This record gives sequence, structure tokens and C-alpha cells, in this order.
Amino acid sequence: MPTTLISGGSRGLGLALVERLLARGDSVATFSRSGSPALDALAAAHVERLFTARVDAADSAAIRGFVEQVATRFGRIDHCIANAAIAHEGVLAVTSDAAIDDMLAVNLKGSIVLVRECVRQMLVQASPSLTVAPSITVISSVVASRGSPGLAVYAATKAGLEGFARNLARELGPRGIRVNAVAPGFLETELSASLSPDNRSRIARRTALGRLGQPADVVGAVEFLTSPAASFITGQVIAIDGGA
Ligand SMILES: NC(=O)c1ccc[n+]([C@@H]2O[C@H](COP(=O)([O-])OP(=O)(O)OC[C@H]3O[C@@H](n4cnc5c(N)ncnc54)[C@H](OP(=O)(O)O)[C@@H]3O)[C@@H](O)[C@H]2O)c1
Repeated sequence: MPTTLISGGSRGLGLALVERLLARGDSVATFSRSGSPALDALAAAHVERLFTARVDAADSAAIRGFVEQVATRFGRIDHCIANAAIAHEGVLAVTSDAAIDDMLAVNLKGSIVLVRECVRQMLVQASPSLTVAPSITVISSVVASRGSPGLAVYAATKAGLEGFARNLARELGPRGIRVNAVAPGFLETELSASLSPDNRSRIARRTALGRLGQPADVVGAVEFLTSPAASFITGQVIAIDGGA
């Protein structure tokens, strides 16, 4: 079974992905700045197949070290899912340099560095005996294309990732590596916890399916993109937003 690296697996969508891909039989590696009881419980139940570490996505050297550890531990990396992100909500006029730097460092540069390190590993490892081609999936957001007040900088990082994915797909296609982005709508996670009740009901009202999403609504698409069923899909941005 494949080895899948997922950033930000301690909670929310990342944790749901860790659970789903472990259940599929993958060996899974994940990092975040802090752990969580839920991730610790999974690690205890899957000692051989789940590798976790405390790494800051804004620290390029630490990411490089983590990817090397994963390659040593599991022998290969087949799928990379760049999921870790932060959102500092607020209108642009009062957004600090620190908040801008933080979102660019974690969401955009952190994801790009992680993908670069994984791609370096994918390019040197022996061609897979697996039926599934290696893949990169970056987690974007519906706000990259739709917009939402107070999220312009966050949206810029996600729009950047979508452009990154489309371009990298062309660069890596000849090497058999697929690259896609998944763009969820608003999800009920810690990241969106600061949404006011008014905003929450406004978002639910304008969504065709009448509600915010759950991590479980998104994991299936990522599982699909990292499966043989998606072997001819690359350079795509797939919206999972309940019809936002
Ligand atoms: N929630 C939404 O409404 C929504 C909508 C569209 C797209 N998304 C995207 O979906 C993805 C997952 O979001 P989520 O809602 O699951 O968020 P979440 O619940 O806040 O989880 C974020 C994960 O990323 C990790 N993380 C954050 N900063 C990090 C850093 N500097 N270094 C390492 N790990 C870091 C967190 O762990 P630590 O804090 O311990 O580091 C956590 O594991 C993100 O890319 C997000 O932009 C979310």
C-alpha cells in the first residue's frame, strides 16, 4: 500500500484524512506544531503505519528533515497532501504585517516547500510497484475563487496554491506525478470557529445544500485523487463546497 504524507493531521480535515487513509491501508506520516489526543490515539493503534512529529510548516529546514525521516521510515513517499494552514480573519486595512507574513509563510511557502521536498523524494525513488501513480494534492479553499470579506490575504495564499498546482501538474506530468487542488467550502472546524452566528447562517443560506461542510464531506475527494481511479486527473481544482 502507498505511503501518504499529510501536513496538519492533528485535527480538522487533516485528522479526518489521516483516519481515512489509515483505514485504506496506507502508511501515513503527518506533522503539526502540537499534537492532539485523537492523533495520539491513532498513533497508539497504528504503531507500524502512522508516523507523527511536531514540525512548524514555516520552518523549511524542519520540513526537509521530516520528509527525510518519512522516506527513511517507510522507504518511499507516494502521495503528498499539503493541508496545514492558518487563517487570520480581518479587513485588509487593519491587517498587520505579522499576520500577512504568517499566512504567506505557512499556507503558501510552507506548502510549496513541503511539496518540493516530497517531489525530490518521488523523483529519486524506484518506480512504484503500485498501480497508483504518485500524486500531490494541495488543499485550497472556495474563497480563492469566490471571495469572502475579511479573508483576502488567506484567499491570496489559496489562489497562489491553485496556480502552483496547475503549473506543477504540467512540469511533473512527464514524470508521472499528478498534481491537483481540492477547494472546500466553509467547514465546521477550529479554523472557522471564529465565524459569527450571523456569518455562519449567511454562508449556509447561500450554499445550495443549506449547510456548512464537515471534514467527512471532503475526505472522499482526496481519497479518490490519491487512488488509481484518478490516474488521468491532473492540474485540476476540485470544489467540494455544497454548491456555494
Ligand atoms: N475550515 C474551513 O472552513 C476551511 C474551508 C476551506 C478550506 N480549508 C482548508 O482546509 C485545510 C484544513 O483546515 P481545517 O479547517 O482542518 O483547519 P484546522 O482545524 O485549524 O487544522 C489545521 C491543521 O494544520 C496544522 N497547522 C496549522 N499551522 C501549522 C504550522 N505552522 N505548522 C504545522 N502545522 C500547522 C494544525 O495543527 P497545529 O495548530 O498544532 O500546528 C492543524 O493540524 C486548510 O488548508 C484550510 O485552509 C478550511
